[in-house]
Amino acid sequence: MILVTGGTGLVGAHLLYDLIKNDEKVRAIYRSEKRIEKVKEVFSFYTDDETLISKIEWFKADITDVPSMIPAFIDIDKVYHCAALISFNPKDYREMRKVNIHGTAIVVNLSIDAKVSKICFVGSIASIGNSLNGALINEECEWNKEADNSGYSITKFGAEMEIWRASQEGVEVVIVNPGVILGSGFWQSGSGKLFTQVYNGFKFYTEGITGFVSVKDVVKSMVLLMNSNIKNERFILVAENKSFKEIFFSIADSLGKKKPSIKIKSWQTSIFWRISGVISTITRKQPFLSKYSARSAHSISKYSSEKIETALNFKFQNINEIIKETSAKYSKNLL
Ligand SMILES: NC(=O)c1ccc[n+]([C@@H]2O[C@H](COP(=O)([O-])OP(=O)(O)OC[C@H]3O[C@@H](n4cnc5c(N)ncnc54)[C@H](OP(=O)(O)O)[C@@H]3O)[C@@H](O)[C@H]2O)c1
Repeated sequence: MILVTGGTGLVGAHLLYDLIKNDEKVRAIYRSEKRIEKVKEVFSFYTDDETLISKIEWFKADITDVPSMIPAFIDIDKVYHCAALISFNPKDYREMRKVNIHGTAIVVNLSIDAKVSKICFVGSIASIGNSLNGALINEECEWNKEADNSGYSITKFGAEMEIWRASQEGVEVVIVNPGVILGSGFWQSGSGKLFTQVYNGFKFYTEGITGFVSVKDVVKSMVLLMNSNIKNERFILVAENKSFKEIFFSIADSLGKKKPSIKIKSWQTSIFWRISGVISTITRKQPFLSKYSARSAHSISKYSSEKIETALNFKFQNINEIIKETSAKYSKNLL
């Protein structure tokens, strides 16, 4: 049987559909019933068959709570570990350490105890370092612990270290390091928010560049890696390197909305995040912009996915196509 953590999130929900469609026996961890509704919504993007979701064995647990997690591992042979806390708010750092590093350590320890054969871990490009001389970033680029890293980056790196520990203890592992993941559902968080913002007339854009990939390709490569003989390797998953300007413009075109028209320069963003920090301290609400999201809006990082393309003969879906597909689902959701 397969165990999925983070099944009620973007990657996990699309992964659950893929596994269930292929008749796999799946147990998925959840924390609240309400979030299972989000998974139903994702299933509805693929199929009208409402019985499919009932094939999942839902198991209430928190990955940071050992007693709740122990029974989740009974009869488990493979683990897809997708659960994480994603935040660029410095106030979430301690919680991110707890969920991303400590939670992963618990998943690893229980996988070792349960003699799980293979773990697939969803890492991030945030735990890969920069390249020298402007070359494309690949899996060999070491994360620099001396750099001014975001809490998210530090904790995703720490989580990856826990996964490598599992490989030392005899559990086979594969790690995927996706870029920004685009896909349907979860319109109020992660990349889903980009669609909501552009739909609501967001006016600003930056020209920073990063890697983007579709959630379907993330899930497809995870399953292919798990079912292959490949072990103890990590793979960058980036379909294309694009600027935020290109992404925003493409979403606006697909949604039939006005393109953002105000280019924000780096010095302007650095003023905004400082003001945002002050407002957040006074109001005790999440800052609308953090130092690290401001920085990534302007930084230029280009990634190579050659390793997975060669290992699995993998072909990524084109980003404009994904944006069109996702925008269509977004518009349908508004009806
Ligand atoms: N989204 C991206 O653009 C992106 C890019 C690169 C890498 N990644 C990585 O991909 C993975 C999945 O991301 P996502 O976009 O699917 O995130 P998401 O939509 O925010 O989902 C996070 C999932 O983790 C679960 N979770 C969080 N804390 C937990 C805890 N203490 N115990 C049990 N479950 C917990 C959440 O459960 P609840 O539903 O109960 O909150 C949810 O199912 C993460 O590891 C992330 O770092 C994401």
